[in-house]
Amino acid sequence: MRRRPAALTAAAALVGALALAGCSDSGSAKAELSVSGPYMPQPVSADMAAGFLTVANKGGAEDTLTSVSSDVAGQVTMHSTMGGAMQEQSSFAIPAHGQLVFKSGGNHLMFEKLKHQPKQGQTVTVKLTFAKSGPLTVEMPVKSATYNPSTGH
Ligand code: CU
Repeated sequence: MRRRPAALTAAAALVGALALAGCSDSGSAKAELSVSGPYMPQPVSADMAAGFLTVANKGGAEDTLTSVSSDVAGQVTMHSTMGGAMQEQSSFAIPAHGQLVFKSGGNHLMFEKLKHQPKQGQTVTVKLTFAKSGPLTVEMPVKSATYNPSTGH
């Protein structure tokens, strides 16, 4: 029968200990943010538009969306929807290993003081600013006024 060399066993134990230490080291955990599914329904109003997207966080630490801006709007505000009534929010949390969803009927972005009225087929540039992570710039396509992302129409 072969015996395992003692040095190898000790090395394996050490690697195991390091892996465990890495897992529990929350001090170095960071948010890892990415944006998916951005779109703006073509606005019916000349001065206001809505926008939707999802911010995913693959990292082990929470981050916070603190502001949004766009080249087409004088101001972009963030709203939640509760019981059919929308309410402006100054920030939205993005949980560790979670996501922040802006979708029709729920949280949404409001593009106010439009510089021009975005048309279907165009793209608007949206910049997201976070408490800890660097800003993300998103090219948001303008879809039909009745676009539904689950059907793609
Ligand atoms: Cu709103």
